[in-house]
Amino acid sequence: MTKCKKNLQVVFLAELIVFICEGSQSVNLPPWITSVFEPEYYVPAKHPTPLNLQCKAKNGIISYQWFKNNVKFQTNDRVGVNEQSGDITFHNLTTEDFGVYYCVAENKHGSSVSSFVKILEAALNGFSGNVHGNIICKIFHHCKIPCSNQPNCQPINECTFEWRIGRGTGNKIKTNENVIIDSEENNDTVTSKAIWKNNPKARIGENATLQCIFSGSPVPNIDWLLKNGSVVKPNSKFQSESNGRHLFIRNVTFDDDGVYTCVADKSNLTMNSYLNVTKLIVIICEGSQSVNLPPWITSVFEPEYYVPAKHPTPLNLQCKAKNGIIRRGTHFSVQSL
Ligand SMILES: *[C@@H]1O[C@H](CO)[C@@H](O)[C@H](O)[C@H]1NC(C)=O
Ligand SMILES: *[C@@H]1O[C@H](CO)[C@@H](O)[C@H](O)[C@H]1NC(C)=O
Ligand SMILES: *[C@@H]1O[C@H](CO)[C@@H](O)[C@H](O)[C@H]1NC(C)=O
Ligand SMILES: *[C@@H]1O[C@H](CO)[C@@H](O)[C@H](O)[C@H]1NC(C)=O
Ligand SMILES: *[C@@H]1O[C@H](CO)[C@@H](O)[C@H](O)[C@H]1NC(C)=O
Ligand SMILES: *[C@@H]1O[C@H](CO)[C@@H](O)[C@H](O)[C@H]1NC(C)=O
Ligand SMILES: *[C@@H]1O[C@H](CO)[C@@H](O)[C@H](O)[C@H]1NC(C)=O
Repeated sequence: MTKCKKNLQVVFLAELIVFICEGSQSVNLPPWITSVFEPEYYVPAKHPTPLNLQCKAKNGIISYQWFKNNVKFQTNDRVGVNEQSGDITFHNLTTEDFGVYYCVAENKHGSSVSSFVKILEAALNGFSGNVHGNIICKIFHHCKIPCSNQPNCQPINECTFEWRIGRGTGNKIKTNENVIIDSEENNDTVTSKAIWKNNPKARIGENATLQCIFSGSPVPNIDWLLKNGSVVKPNSKFQSESNGRHLFIRNVTFDDDGVYTCVADKSNLTMNSYLNVTKLIVIICEGSQSVNLPPWITSVFEPEYYVPAKHPTPLNLQCKAKNGIIRRGTHFSVQSL
């Protein structure tokens, strides 16, 4: 008995191997669908050329059915199903035909279902509605021009957007260190870039404004650091304006001279802005009184000279005069105001 059972098993295994080796010739298995479909097909409505999908399966004599939105599809005057070949052909595709399709392959041993196939409308509509008119942008300020009323475009990953400037079509805007075009995926985090800063001068007693501009979307908040690295706290002397882009320093003194650092939050980008505190000097050029005529000073000076208040550099001005002897060394003086 046991021996007999073993023999039966061997025979069964041998038959199975024959089935597998013979592949499509074997008829005792349900259909095996060999067609590979894309999950989605995008077709424009009123597509002029017919769209055809073929469902193919192996294992014996097979008949095919197509289902649309889970309902068996009946051939009509625009769409034909061939139950022998497995073809579904859309001769004159209209919006009615968009939906989820699958095919069922059947032989006498069973049936198989294909993967789902979505037939969707490929669309690119025009821009509609009122595209905004003027956007006021200030020099050295961040400026964003939104792309509003975007047309319906399917499939979205096949759609590209371009910015053009001017009336012609050739003037495509390229991204550079100043211009960034937000992509759809990279919508909310356009990386910041350091755009611009100033190095202002101010005389003692005047007010000064340091400026720093970072790009980005959203535009980063800006912190200002003092020379020693501590964060500037707004008070009667320091004021942060325009979302931190301006640091207003009131009534500057010698001690305010130096490098201030602006830091964009999130990205930690920094720029240095140097406040040069200067003072006014007056130059008195004296000639000798040794002849009867007053000295005729021939040097031409600027009406005012500003020198750094904190780190005075030697000022090299030559005082020249005619009529008599100019006393060396004493004819030149610099006075602070
Ligand atoms: C396609 O279908 C539309 C609407 O059903 C019809 O107006 C048009 O004449 C058809 N075109 C062809 C080539 O059959
Ligand atoms: C892009 O940003 C806009 C407005 O902030 C938002 O409505 C939209 O959903 C965002 N798109 C993506 C793909 O994140
Ligand atoms: C400095 O700014 C203050 C206001 O914060 C103003 O009252 C003052 O006149 C300004 N000083 C100078 C020299 O411009
Ligand atoms: C940095 O300097 C400011 C003003 O000079 C001072 O108030 C602050 O305490 C200093 N911070 C550090 C960490 O030294
Ligand atoms: C400016 O600062 C100097 C020195 O700290 C002070 O004497 C003067 O009163 C201040 N001026 C104003 C307008 O605050
Ligand atoms: C910015 O610097 C702070 C402090 O050094 C740190 O905690 C943070 O992770 C940094 N952020 C980035 C984006 O580098
Ligand atoms: C500060 O300004 C003075 C006067 O214009 C100039 O001579 C000096 O070089 C400046 N200092 C720096 C570090 O730029």
